[in-house]
Amino acid sequence: MARPKIALIGAGQIGGTLAHLAAIKELGDVVLFDIAEGTPQGKALDIAQSGPSEGFDGAFKGTSDYADIAGADVCIVTAGVPRKPGMSRDDLLGINLKVMKSVGEGIKAHAPNAFVICITNPLDAMVWALREFSGLPHEKVVGMAGVLDSARFRHFLSLEFGVSMRDVTAFVLGGHGDTMVPLVRYSTVAGIPLPDLVKMGWTTQEKLDSIVQRTRDGGAEIVGLLKTGSAFYAPATSAIEMAESYLKDQKRVLPCAAYVQNAYGLDGMYVGVPTVIGANGIEKVIEIDMNAEEQAMMQKSIDAVKGLVEACKGIDNSLA
Ligand code: APR
Repeated sequence: MARPKIALIGAGQIGGTLAHLAAIKELGDVVLFDIAEGTPQGKALDIAQSGPSEGFDGAFKGTSDYADIAGADVCIVTAGVPRKPGMSRDDLLGINLKVMKSVGEGIKAHAPNAFVICITNPLDAMVWALREFSGLPHEKVVGMAGVLDSARFRHFLSLEFGVSMRDVTAFVLGGHGDTMVPLVRYSTVAGIPLPDLVKMGWTTQEKLDSIVQRTRDGGAEIVGLLKTGSAFYAPATSAIEMAESYLKDQKRVLPCAAYVQNAYGLDGMYVGVPTVIGANGIEKVIEIDMNAEEQAMMQKSIDAVKGLVEACKGIDNSLA
């Protein structure tokens, strides 16, 4: 059976890392697409040459021609610009919206059966726009944010508790921005909810609150350190986890920016919610029970995403 085909639209920091991870995990043949001349070709060749030492097989191609993504099973989109220190993800809206238009049209023409994972920021608005421009079914177009935000939360919690990151589960929902909703009640150490760990004296509410805030600021912390771009290792790893669940029909339960209809009081919009990802794409949106405080946080996040979507419609009339 032929190997799956994975098209990476954008061959920058995240795109290159995605290609390397896909290679090491032998997820399929990789096509790196970018408008920057030479970059996708150079990265494809470099990664292919790591095969003999790492011991993987697969074809790696760099291109600036959308025809080369033809028949892709998965497209992961990172095309656009990342933020610089002092910028919010929302500051990228105008420029990255234009990029989503060209990428959406490219996918529509050449890879209409693909499972599409968007990483470009501001995430929730860009995944919505990409779906509109591509015309693909909603369950086949999804945004990567919740897996990353939850991973950041899990990492910080593992440091606080001095336990393996593998034994920390965490839920971060809502939009991928300052209003994201880390759900403390649904986050656990080996099944013990965080509020119980406070009661047990393993941590304090103050420490938990500061970890929640550090999670919300997780991307900005890295932008501030790197100065020339934004995070790329963990974002790429998170998207690969989603792609693998689709390609192998793993039915992982992962928080993603998915199209939500008839749940969370929504009638069709993209926002971070728990989902099941399998061979049919987003196979289920899981509606969890929220208390009044959590609902208020979620609503604030939903409103922020709605504001960005309206801004997109104001910039590009075809979206209105
Ligand atoms: N089509 C294809 N590629 C494009 C286009 C386009 N229209 N416009 C820009 N690109 C390419 C750039 O040439 C660059 O190689 O997208 C790539 C982006 O790579 P980086 O600048 O290294 O950014 P990266 O760190 O990979 O982040 C990409 O993901 O997390 C988000 O906020 C981040 O929106 C940003 C995106």
